[in-house]
Amino acid sequence: YRMVDLIQKKRDGKAFAKEEIEWMISGYAKGTVPDYQMSALAMAIYFQGMTTEETAALTMAMVATGKQLDLSAIPGVKVDKHSTGGVGDKVTLILAPLVASFGVPVAKMSGRGLGHTGGTLDKLESIPGFKIEKTEEDFIRQVQETGLAVIGQSDDLVKADKLLYALRDVTATVDIIPLIASSVMSKKIAAGADAILLDVTVGDGAFMKNIEDARVLARTMVDLGKSVGRQTIAVLTNMSQPLGHAVGNRNEITEAVNTLDGKGSPAFREFIAELAQLMLSLAGQEKSIPEILEHLDNGKARAKFDEMVLAQGGRTDGLTEALKADYQAEVKAEADGFISAEKAMAIGVLAMKLGAGRATKADSIDFEAGIYLEKKVGDLVQTGDVIARLYSNKPITDELMAEAKAAIELSDEASSHKEILEVIR
Ligand code: URA
Repeated sequence: YRMVDLIQKKRDGKAFAKEEIEWMISGYAKGTVPDYQMSALAMAIYFQGMTTEETAALTMAMVATGKQLDLSAIPGVKVDKHSTGGVGDKVTLILAPLVASFGVPVAKMSGRGLGHTGGTLDKLESIPGFKIEKTEEDFIRQVQETGLAVIGQSDDLVKADKLLYALRDVTATVDIIPLIASSVMSKKIAAGADAILLDVTVGDGAFMKNIEDARVLARTMVDLGKSVGRQTIAVLTNMSQPLGHAVGNRNEITEAVNTLDGKGSPAFREFIAELAQLMLSLAGQEKSIPEILEHLDNGKARAKFDEMVLAQGGRTDGLTEALKADYQAEVKAEADGFISAEKAMAIGVLAMKLGAGRATKADSIDFEAGIYLEKKVGDLVQTGDVIARLYSNKPITDELMAEAKAAIELSDEASSHKEILEVIR
C-alpha cells in the first residue's frame, strides 16, 4: 500500500479493508507511517466516518501494537472502568476502592489530564510518595494481595494509542467517535479485565456535546467489548457542570477521601453507588444501593483506598488538609437566584490556568491549585453568598475572576440536574 492512496480513499468516502487498517496502524506504531500522514488520515475520518467493521478492525489493529496483560493469575472476575473524560471527574478514586471493598478485584490503568479534562494519574501523584509506575508482575501481585491497584499505562501496551492520542490532541481530531471508541477499547482490551464499565460523559465539559453522539459512541464501545468476549456496560453521564464540588488535583483527592469517609454530598454519593452497583453486577454481585453506601459509612472503602496508597508508596495522613495555595479568591453571587449553569468547559480551562492542568505537554502541574464549588446547579443563593473558591500559587488576575464569573449563571427558576442519563448494555 501507499499511505497517500489510503488517505485519498478515506477522503473520498470509501471504507477500508481490515488489511489496509492493519498496515497503517502497525506502520504508524513502527514509525514507517509519519505523523503528518496519520494526522491527514484522522481529519479524513472526522469528515467521512468509519463503519462498525472498520472501527472494530482499527481497535484490534491498535491492540496488536503492544502486548496484552494476562490477569488470569488473579482469581475472580476482574472489572475495569474508563471515563471518556471530564471536569472534576474523580470517580475512579472512589469507585475502584468501593468495588474492591466487596472483594471484586480491580486492576486499573489510568491516564493523565488532556486539555481541559483532569487525569486520575495526576490526582494520585498529588499524594506525597505515591508511585504510578509498577512492573506487570508487581501490578498483578498488588491486586492479588490487596484486591486493588491503579497505575499508569505501561509503555508496552497499545503503542499506537500513545502516539495517536498525542497527535490528535494537537490536530483538532480528538472528538471523533471511531477514534475515541478504538482508543478507549484498545486500552481496555489490552489491559486484560473480564468486564468493563464505561462512563461516557456528555455535555459542555465532555468530548461528546450531545446525547445522540454519546449514544452512538457508547453503543460502538459496548458492541466492541462484547465482540471480544468482554462484558461491557456504558453509562451516559452528565458533564454539563463539573462532577462533585472539587476541581484540581489534591483538591479532588480531598473530596474523594471525604466521600470514602462517608462525608460526600448526597447527590455525589448516590451517583457513585449507582456506578458501583453496575460494576459489581458485572462481577456477578447483586447489591442494593444502601448496602453499597454502607461501605462508604463503615470505613471499608476508605480502608481499601489506604491499602492501595500504602502499597504504592504514598502517605495516607493529611490528605484532607486545606489547600496550601498562596492566592485564594472567592466568587460571590451578585444577585439572588438559583444557579442554572456552571459551565464545565470554562471551569476546566480556568482550573488549568490556575495551575491544575497542563497547557502544553511539557508543563508541570501545581497540585495545590484548583476550584471548589460551594454551590451547584439547582442551589438557591443570596447576594454575597460564596459560590466558588479559587486556589493558585500564581496571582489570580481580574481576567481570571471574570472568567470564573462568566462560567456561572443564575436564574429565577429552579432547574434540576441529573447525573446518570442512560445506561447502554
Ligand atoms: N479517552 C481516551 O482514552 N481516548 C480518547 O480518545 C478520548 C478519551
